Formats: sequence, structure tokens, C-alpha cells
Amino acid sequence: MRRGLPSLTAQRVAAYRLSFDRLATPYGDPAADEALARDVAGQVPGEPSEIMAHYLQARTTFFDRVVINAIEREVSQVVMLGAGYDGRALRYANPTVRWWEVDHPKTQQDKRVRLRRLGITAEHVTFLGHDLEGGGLAAALIESGFQPGVPSLVCCEGLVVYLQQDAVELALAELRSVAAPGTRLAISLATSRDDDNTAERRQRFEAAVAALGEPARTRLSAEGAVGLFARRGWRPVEMSERSQRAGFVVVIPA
Ligand SMILES: C[S@@+](CC[C@H](N)C(=O)[O-])C[C@H]1O[C@@H](n2cnc3c(N)ncnc32)[C@H](O)[C@@H]1O
Repeated sequence: MRRGLPSLTAQRVAAYRLSFDRLATPYGDPAADEALARDVAGQVPGEPSEIMAHYLQARTTFFDRVVINAIEREVSQVVMLGAGYDGRALRYANPTVRWWEVDHPKTQQDKRVRLRRLGITAEHVTFLGHDLEGGGLAAALIESGFQPGVPSLVCCEGLVVYLQQDAVELALAELRSVAAPGTRLAISLATSRDDDNTAERRQRFEAAVAALGEPARTRLSAEGAVGLFARRGWRPVEMSERSQRAGFVVVIPA
């Protein structure tokens, strides 16, 4: 993270999402999500790339589907880790669900200022400013009203690459300690096809995020994370080979 400043990579993702097809539901407020993304998009540096748009569209659809499935399963707690300017808590707001948005304090503060200025209320969201490099996630969630006995959904989208692997392991262990049976954790990891194009794309991605002051720190693919999930008490659910290769994984308590 850039010291003392909100995340530019999070702002970029929000800007990209403005042009994406999103899964629709009869509940929620997609217009509020779009208003926030438009507000953020105005200041985003750099030109969008077609390859990145393609990847982010797939990732967005995957997490939209995971969130909608959880709401349909009557999950009442959703935690968005490294939430950035993601507006799913608005887009898929539902009277039966409480949301927690955990993010670096500087990014979250900027998001909350924007929401206030835009007149978007989010009383169903608990904002938890928390540096995930430091530990203490489970305690912070419980202190803010999260109920460990209740099946929940945790989404961790576009975050792992920006954390040290130790911080990823610690977060997974802490989340496991508060995960009731029936909980799911959806996580995006590095893509795993190893051809020249993938290696070149990865290099370009890493150069771009380093230039934004948010260097890549962990390069874990779905395959590479199997041991880590097992060590921290999680078990991947069966997924299509395509999702696996794209690095989109859902795990449940082992
Ligand atoms: C690429 S953005 C993804 C945002 C969001 N999940 C999305 O897909 O739109 C990465 C996010 O990770 C957050 N982040 C990075 N390092 C963090 C840390 N040490 N603690 C908490 N959040 C962090 C940033 O603030 C940013 O919101």
C-alpha cells in the first residue's frame, strides 16, 4: 500500500467494473454501486487494457455469483476482505444480510467520505478499518458484532497478491477460528496457465501495480495454495478446471 494513501489498484478495479455485465437480482441497489464507481473512476490514472478487462469481467461474475448464491442459501453475514470500492454490499443489499467491509484504513476512509458525499447510506454495512499485515482480524470481527456461530460468506477478491504470504496464512487461520460449519470463503489467486503469454502478462501486471505503489508480494495459484489451505483448516470445494486455472477458488472449513 502507498503510505497514508487510498489504494489506486482498488480505484482501477472499480473503474473497470463500470463497463461490465453484472448479475441482476430483484433486491439491492445497483445504482448506488454505479454512482460510487463513477465517482472513483473520474480520478483513475492509466489506460484500461483489454486483457485486464477480460480477466476482471470473469472475476466479477464469479464473485457476483458467489454472493448471490450465499444470499439464496440464507447466509446472513458477508465479509468482504480488502473490499476497496467494491459496491456489492449496495448492489446486493438484502434485509436479511449484514455486511462487513474490511480494508486498509486509508482506502476505507476515502470510500466512506465518497459514500457520504454521494448521499449513499449503508447502515447494513459494518466498516472495519484494519491492516491485514498485522493480525487481529478475528478479534476485530467479533468486537464489531460478527457472530462466529453463524454460517457466513467471506470474499477475498484481488487481495492476496498485495499481502505477504505470512499475512495471508494468518488471515486464513483467524477466519477459520470464527468459521461456523456452512461457511464459505471465496478467494482469487494468481492464474496458473504457464505459457509464455501468461508469464509476459504477469510481468506486465506486476510492473503496472508496482508503478502504482502497490507491488505484488505473493504469487499463489489455486494449485500452489492447496497445502496452505490444508495447514489453516480449509478445504477447496470442487470447481471447474477453468475457474481453477483463473485462480478462483471456494474453500470450506475442513
Ligand atoms: C486490487 S484492490 C481490490 C479491491 C476489491 N476487493 C475489488 O475487487 O474491487 C486491493 C485491496 O486490498 C486492500 N489492501 C491492500 N493491502 C492491505 C492490507 N495490508 N490490509 C488491508 N487491506 C489491504 C487495498 O486497500 C485494496 O482495497
